[in-house]
Amino acid sequence: MGTSEPVRRATEPSDNDDVSDNPAPTDPVGLTSLLSPAVEAVDVEKSFGSTWALRGVSLQIANGQCVGLVGRNGAGKSTLVSILSGLLAPDAGHVLFDGQPAPTLKDLSLWRSRIAVVFQHSMVVPQLTVAENVFLGHRDAKGGFVDWRALRRRTQAILDEWGFEISAKALCSSLRVEERQVVEIARALATGARCLLLDEPTAALERGAIVRLFDRVRQLVAGGFAVLYISHHLEEVFEICQEVTVLRDGQAVLAAPVDQLTKDEMVRAMVGGVTTEEQAPVPVRVAFRPTDNDRGLSVEDLHAGSPRGALRGVSLRVAPGEQVGVTGLLSSGVVTLGRAVAGVEPWTSGRVLVDGKPLAPGRRDVALKAGAGYIPEDRMAEGFVAHLSVAENVTMSVMEELAPRTGLVTPSRREAAARPYTEALSVVSSSLRQAVAELSGGNQQKVAVARALIRKPVVIVAITPTRGVDVASKALLLRALSVAARDRGAALLLATDDLSDLAHCDRVVVFVRGEIFTEFARPPFDREALLAATEGLAATNPV
Ligand SMILES: Nc1ncnc2c1ncn2[C@@H]1O[C@H](COP(=O)(O)OP(=O)(O)OP(=O)(O)O)[C@@H](O)[C@H]1O
Ligand SMILES: [Mg+2]
Repeated sequence: MGTSEPVRRATEPSDNDDVSDNPAPTDPVGLTSLLSPAVEAVDVEKSFGSTWALRGVSLQIANGQCVGLVGRNGAGKSTLVSILSGLLAPDAGHVLFDGQPAPTLKDLSLWRSRIAVVFQHSMVVPQLTVAENVFLGHRDAKGGFVDWRALRRRTQAILDEWGFEISAKALCSSLRVEERQVVEIARALATGARCLLLDEPTAALERGAIVRLFDRVRQLVAGGFAVLYISHHLEEVFEICQEVTVLRDGQAVLAAPVDQLTKDEMVRAMVGGVTTEEQAPVPVRVAFRPTDNDRGLSVEDLHAGSPRGALRGVSLRVAPGEQVGVTGLLSSGVVTLGRAVAGVEPWTSGRVLVDGKPLAPGRRDVALKAGAGYIPEDRMAEGFVAHLSVAENVTMSVMEELAPRTGLVTPSRREAAARPYTEALSVVSSSLRQAVAELSGGNQQKVAVARALIRKPVVIVAITPTRGVDVASKALLLRALSVAARDRGAALLLATDDLSDLAHCDRVVVFVRGEIFTEFARPPFDREALLAATEGLAATNPV
């Protein structure tokens, strides 16, 4: 498919398709609003410098409808969300609510009363409480007197209704990543708007919370809400959306009811005809044979207390060249284990050794020096420096090697060093000098991965590395990790709750409540058995 190909609609075109000929309809009788979609983007264009993020995209969401929006990293999804939510002005085209022109960008609170958004990047202010965040900028929290007690009660009611065990009084800095996501969702619901834009809302949620979210979305849709749902998990789109639009390179290349599409057709539309498998062949299982028992990663009887889940006596070895998956529910301790090994989380007793060298609890510098590469869970906080360029971020930890004596490195030298990694991971940026802040979410994640790999680490700790990464790039990213293990002999510890990430692992260790519950000794790993094990349900050891 060429990029100039028009949108293929599997549905009959409706009268509303003509609306682009009549950009600002006026309708004194209000008939339009009865017949029109709840929200509509018409021929929207947007560019950032030389990057053309959206090229004439039209999209409609009716009342009582959930529309999926999918596409590869950098396809333009979040840009469209910013335009629909009044944060960005389009260069051309316009937005309609109920067939009427949207408010001006200056009137953001009016816009907010029409459409609520859960953004891809956390918009939670850590220093404020949950209730303060939920009602931040809300019309009820403005003016001279704010009844915070009432707002706290309303917040708690929303949280309770969702079955989320979070206190409205809690400080957001004390919350886990997925709890902050819940705060975002609560904030969207508290606006009272009847259009909801969800930009990868499940990325940081665990399964129980996703089920609750989906129930709630279905309930909202049944109650007449218009919902736009963005996700890289295509099965979710099949589960809750009626229609889907596929963006590729800023163009809507496909719009169709989901029940008329297969997942493969959707992926082909996203990547332009080349399938995931063709793009990233599975690495051949050869190469590194572990010899020395001391080498790689050793974790001995580790105990740690952490809001992310405690560890209660965990012992684990990952040999050089070996790929070990660790999985479990979010508070099961897998994230804590990864963070402890990376040196960003302290432990109370036990030992962590990299190539036989013991690490110091909570000392990232020691872990880094010993050769522990780290792909963090929260890329915004730990994965990169947003205002620096792609090349600066990727090469940040290898400056000494690039300029052993002077410490001065030319931009072109940095770019030459970074390029093999950014190309292998298919980072989409206008150039390697572009600030990481300007990249799409998934491309920022790839920068965090490149930064970890360029040091040629002895041990790689990857925590949910494919979060926010599109299906095609996901295979490239997992392949890059596999290659680092198999060809260079790195010991890979892959902590994830995305079971499809585990396919290339040599074995998978399942954690329940801070302890190793069971181990799956060799692939293929049965999804149902893994799921049961993460819930602590496997009656017998599947090894
Ligand atoms: N503020 C900005 N300045 C420059 N370029 C930008 C800016 N915001 C987005 N872009 C570019 O626009 C394109 C579309 O980005 P967008 O964030 O909409 O992608 P996306 O589909 O949401 O991707 P992802 O799945 O990774 O979140 C990308 O090439 C991105 O680098
Ligand atoms: Mg995005």
